[in-house]
Amino acid sequence: MWNIYLVGYMGSGKSSLGRQLAIEMHVPCIDLDHKIEQVQGQLISTIFEEHGETYFRNLEHQTLMQTFNLDRTIISTGGGTPTYKDNMEQMNKAGITIYLKADLLTLFNRLKKRKEHRPIIADLTDEALMEFIEHHLSPRKAFYETAQLHLDASLPIPLLCLKVNEFLCKV
Ligand code: S3P
Repeated sequence: MWNIYLVGYMGSGKSSLGRQLAIEMHVPCIDLDHKIEQVQGQLISTIFEEHGETYFRNLEHQTLMQTFNLDRTIISTGGGTPTYKDNMEQMNKAGITIYLKADLLTLFNRLKKRKEHRPIIADLTDEALMEFIEHHLSPRKAFYETAQLHLDASLPIPLLCLKVNEFLCKV
């Protein structure tokens, strides 16, 4: 088995699915954001605040590259990971990529409750958040959609795990 990379917009449920898949498959799970925070010794929001987004994207790229040495590991990426540098291309080469596809309203309802640790949306009002997602999601979709498996993020996690397992049996 290769590594599995979970991609999708903020709030699509990558971390929750990653954790459950790892339990069921008895493999490790890495959350790229947590890894970056561990290595840097700072929260993502502090990294953005103190060093800026470009610095964060470089760290994210380096941390992602380190996962290419791993095997049988589930990696849940950040919402922006696939859209910077050649990250998505590299993930597609290095493992199985899974896109958790969520619609605008689902993302809005999930994200309005969990904005504060996400620097890109932390300061937005609910109205501005809706508009932001609408404009921000569409260019990102082009990257997400190159993933090898697309899953409906509104499905319950056990069903998503089942679909991943079915897919893995075929590859
Ligand atoms: C980001 C998503 C976040 C995190 C950072 C930037 C983005 O990860 O990497 O705040 O650009 O969409 P999650 O998708 O896990 O929230």
